[in-house]
Amino acid sequence: MLHLEKLSCGYGNLTVIEELSIHITKSEIFALIGANGAGKSSTIMSIAGHVSVKSGKIIFKGVDITKTPVTKRVQLGIALAPEGRRLFTDMTVSENLAMGGYSLPVKRLTRNRDKVLELFPRLGERIDQQASILSGGEQQMLAIGRALMAEPELLIIDELSLGLMPKVIDLCYMAISTLRQQGVTILLVEQNTSRALEVADRICVLESGRDVWQGTAKNARNDPELITAYLGLNQEQTAAGGNNA
Ligand SMILES: Nc1ncnc2c1ncn2[C@@H]1O[C@H](COP(=O)(O)OP(=O)(O)OP(=O)(O)O)[C@@H](O)[C@H]1O
Ligand SMILES: [Mg+2]
Repeated sequence: MLHLEKLSCGYGNLTVIEELSIHITKSEIFALIGANGAGKSSTIMSIAGHVSVKSGKIIFKGVDITKTPVTKRVQLGIALAPEGRRLFTDMTVSENLAMGGYSLPVKRLTRNRDKVLELFPRLGERIDQQASILSGGEQQMLAIGRALMAEPELLIIDELSLGLMPKVIDLCYMAISTLRQQGVTILLVEQNTSRALEVADRICVLESGRDVWQGTAKNARNDPELITAYLGLNQEQTAAGGNNA
């Protein structure tokens, strides 16, 4: 589905990701994990086309999209729910959803909207309310819903659980599992390591723009050295509720 081949990317003269190679297969949940500033958002923003690639390649469904414009990547099947959600706050839930599928014919727009509201019934209850007055959890649902409006084959979500209550995190993760069952491939950025290890098939741990570990979540859970060196702090925070508040 998605191959990053020795991808280096960054901002201006600054390279923040160095020769990162990742392979994500269809219908899997792949989690990018790492501390603040590790380069998680930069990696996914380069996949979506918002951060410039300095060297290496991004291959999506066998097509080299390294230089493909953002809108074309959306049409090819890549959608992003970005860090901070970036909703159109002065628009309603309904209008935000419509923006996510703006290039589609009305029939498909309606069908996709129905599917999103089935996945997140809460959005249906808030459909005519302005995005700015939604709770954090509802805003996250709307950000994911808006991304889904474009019928993605690859859904990328940055910081799925950040700042959300445990109950809402459960809802979001249930939605992710449902989407995966429907055949959507999911690339997650998550600082809540315990959650990521529970739900992901495979993970990549980033540190200072380089991958320090890649493998199955199962192997990660059984690797005390990895947990102590790279995942321990987040797990402790999670156990204490620090990341979920
Ligand atoms: N727009 C930008 N211009 C310059 N440098 C940036 C920009 N955005 C991010 N960086 C730098 O790139 C590096 C990686 O940042 P990035 O946001 O990708 O990390 P992250 O893993 O997503 O962190 P966080 O967990 O805080 O979201 C950091 O050193 C950061 O300061
Ligand atoms: Mg980030």
